[in-house]
Amino acid sequence: MQPFMRACISYVANGLVGSFKSFVVSVAKSYLVALPLSSKGALTVYFDPQPKTKREDLFDREAELRQFSGALSYASLIVVTGLRRSGKTSFMNVALAESRHPYINLDLRGLPYNPSHMDIVRRLEAAFNRVDRKWFTSICDVLKHVKGVSIVGNALSLDWSRTGVDLAGVFDKINDWASKQKERFLVGFDEIQLIRGDKGIPRLFAHIADTDQNVILVITGSEVGLLFDFLGFEDTESPLYGRHYTEINMQNFDSVNSETFLRKGFQQIGLKIDAGVLDYALQKLDGVVGWLTLFGARCRDRNKCTQDMVDEVMVEGGKLARAEALKLVRRSKRYGVVLNFLAKVGTANWTQIKATLEAKENRLLPSPTVAGTLNTLIKTSLLSKTDRQYSIIDPLLASGVQRDPLPE
Ligand SMILES: Nc1ncnc2c1ncn2[C@@H]1O[C@H](COP(=O)(O)OP(=O)(O)O)[C@@H](O)[C@H]1O
Ligand SMILES: [Mg+2]
Repeated sequence: MQPFMRACISYVANGLVGSFKSFVVSVAKSYLVALPLSSKGALTVYFDPQPKTKREDLFDREAELRQFSGALSYASLIVVTGLRRSGKTSFMNVALAESRHPYINLDLRGLPYNPSHMDIVRRLEAAFNRVDRKWFTSICDVLKHVKGVSIVGNALSLDWSRTGVDLAGVFDKINDWASKQKERFLVGFDEIQLIRGDKGIPRLFAHIADTDQNVILVITGSEVGLLFDFLGFEDTESPLYGRHYTEINMQNFDSVNSETFLRKGFQQIGLKIDAGVLDYALQKLDGVVGWLTLFGARCRDRNKCTQDMVDEVMVEGGKLARAEALKLVRRSKRYGVVLNFLAKVGTANWTQIKATLEAKENRLLPSPTVAGTLNTLIKTSLLSKTDRQYSIIDPLLASGVQRDPLPE
């Protein structure tokens, strides 16, 4: 029952005695029961669709947070992997904030395909300008001596040109600063594969890992294969070849966690969920926390929660996931052919996929061409391969593509 209704009923049940003031207090109390307050007094809401920034809004991830804080004492490179919408950004936001160390957090989403050096430096500048005020002034003081850094009023400004700011110099100074403060400075790059065109970045990371002991890089990526190709830990040509890194993987929620997440989330917003609808949602949304959150958010918006709404979220999520896959299909229609085929049949082996591509193109295709197509789909975490069978990982992408096939 809605808190407001509960308060009204108790008001009426009390024989309309009590003042209007007591009625208002009772409404407020009902809401307080329905919406638990976090330790800091703000409302705790799992179903807020924005990436989380506060520990109390982040469901679980206890073990991963422990792994993160443990790694801070020895690692210079932490890589947070996970599928799209598995909660990497939320986790990184919270892990950085909870670490109590000074940090910057670069959000690389929304950059153009193959962003320029200028785009990246601008994001870095924005991140430095968001540093906790507790540290900001003393950081500006040490950075102002680095080539290409200037302090304008109350803001730090970086020279965007290629010959402008000396990024290695910036992190060397940050390292000296951190060591004087007896601190470690954390640098987060969210969705690093989006800047994979900039070959200077792995060089910069290798320099930081070698020289700047008090700087820790924290990197996330959804397109896990591309992420590791870019970093090149196993590539003898890469500046990061053979480096040690700590990987923290954001698994999708298992069925128990998915159910607890939904139950607690609905409790927070004071909405009842029918057992049948809950089961249906759990079965369809597959433990992807982003989809579970989207479902909860829709229920909150409409103040109800039905099986149809699970279907609606599947359609909405399917469109979103399809739009992301479309970016890859624009580079080659072959990706569209494979995804459309797998969306229809569920799983298929190499021979079946090759035959489908060949039928589409009316010619035989060399095996490396087919392998290249499938590898990219795996490296971008759209497909998985188990026991020689390929399938689309995200069931919402599969149903989105089934409903509205990709161009081929
Ligand atoms: N542990 C969590 N608890 C509560 N909500 C979460 C959690 N992890 C992710 N979310 C929610 O799921 C959605 C996707 O999370 P996000 O951090 O953006 O994932 P990713 O960066 O992996 O794509 C967002 O709406 C976010 O608020
Ligand atoms: Mg993210």
